[in-house]
Amino acid sequence: MLHATIHLDPAYQLADVPRELFGSFIEHLGRAVYDGIYCPGHPTADGQGFRRDVLEAIQALQVPLIRYPGGNFASGYRWEDGVGPKEKRPVRPDGAWRSRESNQVGLNEFAGFCRSADAELMMTVNLGTRGVQEACDLLEYCNLPDGTYFSDMRVAHGVKEPHGIKYWCLGNEMDGPWQTGHKTAEEYGRLAAETARAMRKLDPSIRLTAAGSSNPYMPTFPQWEATVLEHTYDDVDFLSLHQYLGNSTGDMGDFLAQSLTTDRFITDAVAACDFVQAKKRSKKRMMLSFDEWNVWYKTMDQEQHIQPWQFAPPLLEERYTMADAAVFGTMLITLLNHADRVKMACQAQLVNVIAPIMTEPNGGPVWRQSIFWPFRQASLDNRWPAWHIVLRHDDRAYIPRYDSKNYTDVPYLEYAAVLHLDPDMGGDAVTIFAVNRSLDEPMLLDCDLTAFGGGKDAEHLALYGPAEAVNGPGQEVLKPRAMAGAEVKDGHLQAQLPPLSWNMLRVGVERKLF
Ligand code: AHR
Repeated sequence: MLHATIHLDPAYQLADVPRELFGSFIEHLGRAVYDGIYCPGHPTADGQGFRRDVLEAIQALQVPLIRYPGGNFASGYRWEDGVGPKEKRPVRPDGAWRSRESNQVGLNEFAGFCRSADAELMMTVNLGTRGVQEACDLLEYCNLPDGTYFSDMRVAHGVKEPHGIKYWCLGNEMDGPWQTGHKTAEEYGRLAAETARAMRKLDPSIRLTAAGSSNPYMPTFPQWEATVLEHTYDDVDFLSLHQYLGNSTGDMGDFLAQSLTTDRFITDAVAACDFVQAKKRSKKRMMLSFDEWNVWYKTMDQEQHIQPWQFAPPLLEERYTMADAAVFGTMLITLLNHADRVKMACQAQLVNVIAPIMTEPNGGPVWRQSIFWPFRQASLDNRWPAWHIVLRHDDRAYIPRYDSKNYTDVPYLEYAAVLHLDPDMGGDAVTIFAVNRSLDEPMLLDCDLTAFGGGKDAEHLALYGPAEAVNGPGQEVLKPRAMAGAEVKDGHLQAQLPPLSWNMLRVGVERKLF
């Protein structure tokens, strides 16, 4: 049995939990849109052809925003193809995923879908094959009241009111040689700055994200961030980061340690942002949008090996194991622990493509993968309309550690603690999200709550199982289970975390804090 001790203190506050930290992403890729969310003729389809059963699964995650339409797809996309009468929309080759795009779903349909999901649409503009003018045309179509060329076109397409899209991404992964229209940092920085300025002239209320690095291993990281921000610092609100964790060495200890690279990626990107802030003598502090994150390694580069130009081929349908869910959980915890600088994030992606929600092909049943549960628990726990504050880690913690093939001193415990109002508990509460990285040993977690004057009514839910266990249609074996034994004694919460587990612990705290 491993033992870990942590201390929580209401005076050690890091930041409010931003609601936008629990966003997601849907790209025109594989079966995410077609045969995923959109399936006309399906018994559950609504009048627009969107599946209600898939929508319900999405609603259970309560994602506040959904990034769209890509991803790599966005860098070759003409938004005009996806608006207007469906029978007139062109079928195009999508070079990014070597697939056929029918354009039967475009921005008006997707905006309607987001409204049903109670999520904001976060739009990526094409800065790969297109530029300032097309981004402005799209913004005019989406956000301006009628009376101009593109806003009148929207009205003619049956959408009287502007969509009022607030969040805009200035291109996607422009640092990556795989990206259509890939650019150097200088080229991209100039283009992003000019696009941002022109877009803000049309709608000053929008919030803009400049594309940062596609992963921490890019040879251009973090110089890319510094150069891009030299150009865009005054004109954008966020810098984006992307990262997918994978089992690259085949060593489970390494795989489970991977979120340490996410932690370092964020710290280094923040340093690059602050370097530019200092250089510019700016008062503005740049915030991060981690707008693609997940575990993804089994289906990487799959598009290179398929028969090209298929319509909605089954691409990137990663099957998530228990080990994957634990790694996913550590990434989620890492984002929470950087809530002072990471203000938005998009789990990538939502349906069928590296996704928590799956549908069987040709309109088959919907089911939930292992990673659905950590995301749902963290997302829901932070959605009450009250305050939620991430508590800082403190130096007194004792956490046992291990060495793996490529990492040393990996903490067996990864955790984030959130202080919030809890309507169910009738007062204040602390929720702890925790992953036990040990494959074979349970962990006794002792959480010192004496700074709160103690705690009461401890609850413990855990997701655990064999490392290779997976869910499947009609076979959702991996889901959180209520755990017996969590209790508060002498101001300490004590609970046993199963080997290789994601845990959510909640405890009422006794002292009124504010
Ligand atoms: O999410 C899948 C792909 O991963 C996205 O299209 C791209 O932005 C990233 O490389």
